[in-house]
Amino acid sequence: MNKNQKIALLTKKHVAQTYGRYPIALVRGKGSKVWDKAGKQYLDFVSGLAVDNLGHCHPAVVSAIQKQAKTLLHVSNLYHIEPQSQLAEQLTSLCFADKFFFCNSGTEAIESAIKLARKFSFDQGHTDRIEIITMHDSFHGRSMGALSATAQKKFHTGFQPLLPGFKYVPFNNIPAVKKAISKKTCALLVEPIQGEGGVNVPNPSYLKDLKSLCRKNDLLLIFDEVQTGFGRTGKLFAHELFKTKPDIITLAKALGGGMAIGAMAATNRVMKSFVPGTHAATFGGNPLACAAALASLKVITGKGFLKKALETGAYFSECLQKLAQQHSTIKDVRGKGMILAIELDKPGAQVVLDCMEKGFLINCIQQNVLRFLPPLNISRKDISSLMPVLSESLLRLSKSKI
Ligand SMILES: Cc1ncc(COP(=O)(O)O)c(C=O)c1O
Repeated sequence: MNKNQKIALLTKKHVAQTYGRYPIALVRGKGSKVWDKAGKQYLDFVSGLAVDNLGHCHPAVVSAIQKQAKTLLHVSNLYHIEPQSQLAEQLTSLCFADKFFFCNSGTEAIESAIKLARKFSFDQGHTDRIEIITMHDSFHGRSMGALSATAQKKFHTGFQPLLPGFKYVPFNNIPAVKKAISKKTCALLVEPIQGEGGVNVPNPSYLKDLKSLCRKNDLLLIFDEVQTGFGRTGKLFAHELFKTKPDIITLAKALGGGMAIGAMAATNRVMKSFVPGTHAATFGGNPLACAAALASLKVITGKGFLKKALETGAYFSECLQKLAQQHSTIKDVRGKGMILAIELDKPGAQVVLDCMEKGFLINCIQQNVLRFLPPLNISRKDISSLMPVLSESLLRLSKSKI
């Protein structure tokens, strides 16, 4: 039994089997590289699923964590928390939002947004307005609220009844939203670019049109930027690409530079509905996670960082387009910045395994979509080194009978 298998055995025996895991244990990371327990090196195009936007163990984040860990790890939100207030100040200066609520994950951020939307409506006197419209193929998380917001049947099976108050419509379809709006609707919830649903990029006017509908019908617009936030699309937030601001935003994943932290933010008009006692999270906005987030944010918003990420993303996209010209098994190349995907005409699971064998970590979603989420500061050389490996595997896939 090798060193990876020993860990796999422990996982199998003692950890709930909620994940279909690959047979390696990652034990160390630096920049765009990770190593498994047996010492094998991989180039990481998964980045902890859009968490490690600065790569692994970025020195600025590590140093901030070390410093904060020696000073104060955790105190209650019964008191003011210096790194939390500093982080909120920084973030509000970078986006539409006036106030932040901090939590620990994307799911929690979504729960907070659902609660805020309902509470805001209630405070406006619209006590019957409890419905939120969400989009087919969305992914918003796994708690009962976030799961109910997620419009993908495969995640619902076995967990019904879901939370009432959600209506699902096709993504990128304005007439469907218009039709679904009723006297009970309080908000629309949408990922500016759908992540787990297949890296689906809407029409350029989609978010703007959603906003017009919200203004016309007095609804809140909620953007879930848990996956697209913090430079993933080449902009700090994906909604900047579409020149449309929401009333509420949810964030997590890359916010903490690798530390667990989530956030829900809104304008003052909306956030005033969250008064003491309405919502809370014990670990939300703890000093350690906020110190890491502050350090990460400084790097991401540093001079030239996002511009370079956008350029590298364009290069990556070109590489994938070239690959598509050589392989008819690729049906589509899509994405923005450093959230990119190729859709195949066959299941992509074997391609992931082939790449892993050759020392590259990639991800497959919706059975036949290969998703690429590399660190934003990955080199062009690293990107180009993936191409022959993908090409060889795709050739084999096209000849296979699956
Ligand atoms: C858009 C989006 N929202 C919410 C979530 C849930 O986040 P978490 O897994 O941190 O709870 C995810 C996770 O992939 C996501 O991609």
